[in-house]
Amino acid sequence: MSTFAKEKTAAVVLAAGEGRRMQAEQPKQFILLADRPLFLHSLEFFLKMPEIDQVCLVLHRDYLASEWADEARSLAAHYGKSLVLATGGARRQDSTLNGLKALGVDVAIVTVHDSARPFPPLGPVMESIRQAREHGGAILANRVSDTVKQVEPGTDVISGTLDRERLYLAQTPQTFRYRDILEALETLERRGVDVTDEAMAFELTGREVRIVTSDSTNLKVTMPEDLERAEALAAQRRAT
Ligand code: CTP
Ligand code: MG
Repeated sequence: MSTFAKEKTAAVVLAAGEGRRMQAEQPKQFILLADRPLFLHSLEFFLKMPEIDQVCLVLHRDYLASEWADEARSLAAHYGKSLVLATGGARRQDSTLNGLKALGVDVAIVTVHDSARPFPPLGPVMESIRQAREHGGAILANRVSDTVKQVEPGTDVISGTLDRERLYLAQTPQTFRYRDILEALETLERRGVDVTDEAMAFELTGREVRIVTSDSTNLKVTMPEDLERAEALAAQRRAT
């Protein structure tokens, strides 16, 4: 048994966004994918994982007493795992901070995940937990396959081509030492700094984040057409 085996590990599942780009009647996390609300797929992934001791689901305050919250609770009961609910905030980073604060103070490692990604890949997620234990922070990411151009601010005039060898597209899960990510996000909140993911909070406070190569199944549902891809992937997973 490794010395890390007793470290309490938790997951925060973010499901408090408005899903504006999806333009659906309800926030995208509640849209049905393979007959279940989108957020329930990734929630179940973490509830199932033996390495995860506690899960926090972050919901907008309007949905804390909803059927979705009830479904989440019964799924957690099914897996016999501790589930806490937290209230979402205006920005993603506010939702994350609320989720982190709702977890037990004895949590050592936390993995933060967008419920908009229904199929987190198990191997890379495990690796991110291992790397976070060792180095402090690790995120799932994929290499960029297109050539990326930079333009002059506010124009369509190219000012340069970025070195593709150095570029990755950040995904979630993003895994960190609990105290460090809490402190990083609280520091940035005091300073009034906006971040677009948790890794950025680590980067801006001088902490190291490692890349763990993800895979093509970790798609994010953002636009209506993404749902078709997600359905196809769900069907493929059922068939194997
Ligand atoms: N999220 C959240 N709280 C917020 C904003 C976003 O919990 N204040 C969550 C979303 O529910 C989603 C994840 O963060 O699972 C990634 O955000 P994104 O894909 O941008 O979702 P939305 O913000 O809901 O969508 P949009 O940007 O199109 O409005
Ligand atoms: Mg958003």
